[in-house]
Amino acid sequence: MGVPIQAKGLNAWFGKTQALYDIALDIPPNHATAIIGPSGCGKSTFVRCLNRMHETVPNARVAGSVNIGTVDVYGNGTPAVELRRRVGMVFQKPNPFPTMSIYDNVAAGLRLNGIRNRHKLDESVERSLRQAALWDEVKDSLNTKSGASLSGGQQQRLCIARALAVEPEVMLMDEPASALDPISTSKVEDLIYQLKEHYTIVIVTHNMQQAARVAEFTGFFLMGRLVEFDKTEKIFTTPRDKRTEDYITGRFG
Ligand SMILES: Nc1ncnc2c1ncn2[C@@H]1O[C@H](COP(=O)(O)OP(=O)(O)OP(=O)(O)O)[C@@H](O)[C@H]1O
Ligand SMILES: [Mg+2]
Repeated sequence: MGVPIQAKGLNAWFGKTQALYDIALDIPPNHATAIIGPSGCGKSTFVRCLNRMHETVPNARVAGSVNIGTVDVYGNGTPAVELRRRVGMVFQKPNPFPTMSIYDNVAAGLRLNGIRNRHKLDESVERSLRQAALWDEVKDSLNTKSGASLSGGQQQRLCIARALAVEPEVMLMDEPASALDPISTSKVEDLIYQLKEHYTIVIVTHNMQQAARVAEFTGFFLMGRLVEFDKTEKIFTTPRDKRTEDYITGRFG
């Protein structure tokens, strides 16, 4: 089941350049929350801070607190492996392990977590591929086709299946459909719509219609600050802040 995410006083830097300023945001469980805003406003940085992905960037630094359910993300002693089991992530560009089979792609996270039992692996691979709406397309080539042999849209659903396999509580999606054709995009959107009953989903998107279609809540970022967070409908119809209104009516960005 999904858990709430609570960010408080979150600041992020790349070297001397500050990318996030004092973000405070409560993201509710078992819903989808969209993060919108113009290029460079800190959307990717924000979602990466939620599972300490910034640790992979040299000179990146974060201050403040993030709680995901009962896990204190920046507290002492939460190992990255444990965090990433609870918090799945999907990127803009599908990144399956190219030479691994479809099966091994989905099982990778489970194996990393020490699961070796074949029956358990088979079960989880099938469940995850079904959840990601990919099972019917790949069930006859699980071990014969590689991740790289799939179409872009299939690769993205494979990455979603891989993330789901370890039964996370949160799914972070950074523009998961922006590199996909319209049919694949609509499959991924349908998927988000179904997944949100059981997961907390945070989706970064450039596409305001997409935010309106899939997310109950939306946060608008501008120059590293959270300008406004509310029900999506409110953000897109009667935002409180003039800057939000200017953005959603297409005056900039
Ligand atoms: N690895 C990095 N090294 C240095 N600066 C970075 C790095 N990643 C992001 N930044 C800077 O941090 C700020 C926020 O970037 P971020 O990628 O979070 O924006 P974004 O809202 O996701 O933009 P886009 O819509 O283009 O994906 C920008 O000024 C960007 O140049
Ligand atoms: Mg980005």
